Amino acid sequence: NKGKYEHYMQKEIHEQPESLTTTMRGRLIRGGSCKSKSVLLGGIKDHLKTIRRSRRIVFIGCGTSYNAALAARPILEELSGIPVSVEIASDLLDRQGPIYREDTAIFVSQSGETADTLQALEYALENGALCVGITNTVGSAIARHTHCGVHINAGCEIGVASTKAYTSQIVVMAMLALAIGDDTLSSQARREAIIDGLFDLPSKVKDVLKLDQEMKNLAQLLIAEQSLLVFGRGYNYATALEGALKVKEVALMHSEGILAGEMKHGPLALVDETLPIVVVATRDACFSKQQSVIQQLHARKGRLIVMCTKGDAASVCVGGSCRVIEVPQVEDCLQPVINIVPLQLLAYHLTVLRGYNVDQPRNLAKSVTTQ
Ligand code: UD1
Ligand code: BG6
Repeated sequence: NKGKYEHYMQKEIHEQPESLTTTMRGRLIRGGSCKSKSVLLGGIKDHLKTIRRSRRIVFIGCGTSYNAALAARPILEELSGIPVSVEIASDLLDRQGPIYREDTAIFVSQSGETADTLQALEYALENGALCVGITNTVGSAIARHTHCGVHINAGCEIGVASTKAYTSQIVVMAMLALAIGDDTLSSQARREAIIDGLFDLPSKVKDVLKLDQEMKNLAQLLIAEQSLLVFGRGYNYATALEGALKVKEVALMHSEGILAGEMKHGPLALVDETLPIVVVATRDACFSKQQSVIQQLHARKGRLIVMCTKGDAASVCVGGSCRVIEVPQVEDCLQPVINIVPLQLLAYHLTVLRGYNVDQPRNLAKSVTTQ
């Protein structure tokens, strides 16, 4: 049931304040006797000791689920102190990459049925790793075959392009990082700030959804373009990849997410007055580096659309003209949840304006159960 919406993708984008609330329900604890704020993930609490002892955490997924793992990697590394790698399931299988008994392998999948991810799970089980699932579908193959896991509880997702599952996956992985790091006293203040940030997140997502009309106007401007680049780094490298994936899969427009740190090693050759480029430059530890990327793109007369923190328009656009998308600020590791929303809206409106099927894009399936 699409309710008041025209398409499932539109409905699923707009219901993110609610889906995120459901994802966190009963899992965040504020107050209590010994610890003031903590996280409780019922599905993994008995396995936390094993996870903390593991030599490596390996995330495995495809498509949007892979991007969500990439968004969560920095906070997992920070709070666990364990090396974290992120693998595309098919690539891990192609390489038969090493997986050890001392590894925790985390399988991220909205459907829980993706063939590549499922096969990588069988492979990791054979190799003796602790296998953890992060899935949206209770009773799915991945949920059944993993040793333990967390359901993201985002509600049924129908649009082929994943939207609300992506933001809920990131939130679950941030909660996982909090749970793993829970025994480390030195990071307690940081963890509490993130928990506060999680409580506030649904209302911040509600705020950013107000950009709907602005994104429609931007889509109008880009309707006839051949290509769109999206630059990001740090927490928002994933935002660049996922934003580009949305535009590619539904609007059928070539789009590429680019790690801004790699700009000089190739992508800069593409920059001219015509190619539209989105630069994600919200406030975090990478902000000044992104300011310098913007300056260099300006110097090449790049056609820039800068996503920045509310109030930063003047400081990101010095010395050039660019379009600005201002978003609310949240805790740095949660910022990818906010930043993807305008890009989801942009992809949605571009698709509708270009006259394509937004819920069932050409050649794609919601759940890819064959290899
Ligand atoms: C569970 C209940 C929830 C109830 C809550 C009350 C289910 C599905 N969930 O939620 O209805 O309100 O207790 O405390 O009944 N699992 C995997 N692999 C996965 C995902 C999950 O093995 O990919 C396992 C978990 O280890 C766990 C079970 O499935 O044993 C349920 O996981 P989850 O729904 O995340 O647990 P709770 O949040 O505790
Ligand atoms: C398909 C979907 O390609 O599978 C994508 O069209 C999705 O939206 C990908 O991200 C992975 O699916 P899942 O269910 O394993 O997260």
